[in-house]
Amino acid sequence: MKVAVIGLGYVGLTISVFASNYFQVVGFDNNQKIVNQLNLGRSHIEGVESSLLLKLIKTGSYRATTSGADISDADIVVIAVPTPLTVDRKPDLSYLDAACKTVGANLERPALVINESTSFPGTLRNFIKPHIEKYSSRAVSHLYAISPERVDPGRSDFNQKNTPRLYAGLTEEASAKTKEFYSKFCESLVEVSSPEVAEAAKLFENTFRQVNIALVNEFAQIAHSLGISVYETLDAANTKPYGFMKFTPSAGVGGHCIPVDPTYLASAAEEHGVPATFIRRANEVNLEMSKYIVRRVVEDNGGNLQGKSVLVVGVAYKPNVADVRETAAEPVIEHLRSNGAVVSWHDDVVGNWKGESSAPLQGADIVVVVTKHDGLDEKKILSSAPYVFDTTGKVKGATGL
Ligand SMILES: NC(=O)c1ccc[n+]([C@@H]2O[C@H](COP(=O)([O-])OP(=O)(O)OC[C@H]3O[C@@H](n4cnc5c(N)ncnc54)[C@H](O)[C@@H]3O)[C@@H](O)[C@H]2O)c1
Repeated sequence: MKVAVIGLGYVGLTISVFASNYFQVVGFDNNQKIVNQLNLGRSHIEGVESSLLLKLIKTGSYRATTSGADISDADIVVIAVPTPLTVDRKPDLSYLDAACKTVGANLERPALVINESTSFPGTLRNFIKPHIEKYSSRAVSHLYAISPERVDPGRSDFNQKNTPRLYAGLTEEASAKTKEFYSKFCESLVEVSSPEVAEAAKLFENTFRQVNIALVNEFAQIAHSLGISVYETLDAANTKPYGFMKFTPSAGVGGHCIPVDPTYLASAAEEHGVPATFIRRANEVNLEMSKYIVRRVVEDNGGNLQGKSVLVVGVAYKPNVADVRETAAEPVIEHLRSNGAVVSWHDDVVGNWKGESSAPLQGADIVVVVTKHDGLDEKKILSSAPYVFDTTGKVKGATGL
């Protein structure tokens, strides 16, 4: 059995190495640099060890390519390309369209096509299938299924093996073959009645996080105004053994999923005439956190940041990863700069970002911690500036939310 994976990022490369233990896998990506590095056994994704990749390449069970022709004889195709937002924050299916073109134009025989990219309900049925058919000049008909990805980059306790996986095919045969594929390397498979349910479940999981993070971010502001600790209050509420789940405040949400997926759900809702006001407002509350944080820093520093040096610690969107997509550090830095501060940032996991490099953790008037990687000593952060504002709750003794 030959498996082709389209898109070799966080999702695609992760699934590739798990599948390579059981199938011959060819990974297709349109980024030549990524493909070259992968074929040298160099992984660019946290959680995918280069040594493992090299081993799989040497045994012949994995290789990467930029040539569509290399997927022509695949039995199974897994699509894992980005599904971001357009500049006006609407679902952007252009990468999915390009992936459909690669699949449609190259697949020479009937295959099972599984989508792992996150999108709104109806994408598999009304977009992927007709687009692949449109781009195919051959009279082959494929099976189609969805299995939304739940990978949490940087996390070691849950992975492809022990995270339950939802799936549904457009036909019973597609469902059965999808189950057969994933059951090789996934312990728990959950079939749902339609692809639309699986697509909606994925969006709702991340909307649940977005909404609860917004709630706790709003509560952090309320707690501060009441003169009580948000962290102590959350710990107190968390002693209730049922009906409560603890979320912690932050500078906002980042990454490719939580700031993006709820907008896919809201767009689908609005297209069906349902106003998704709650989801939209949660997004706004999280986006507004950066302004609130900078306002607090300004108030604590004499009402003015003009000419002050500010070091933002942690620009990755979450600890222990180098991913800066939709990071809350970006609006925090923007607001600090618009208040006259001279801003640099420290993040040795990210290293380089937007043409700037990680600055040393010293010498600033003010430090604002947005993300704290595990390898960074909290005492070192605390002693790095006369004023430290911590948005993570991990730097004891600092001013915080
Ligand atoms: N990152 C996560 O934690 C996560 C978790 C669950 C689901 N998802 C979803 O999975 C999908 C992929 O996300 P990701 O984080 O892996 O993205 P990514 O940016 O890490 O990787 C995507 C890869 O696809 C490649 N690519 C883009 N267009 C292509 C095309 N037309 N043909 C072939 N390759 C192409 C890019 O070069 C890149 O290497 C998205 O829909 C995302 O929402 C991501």
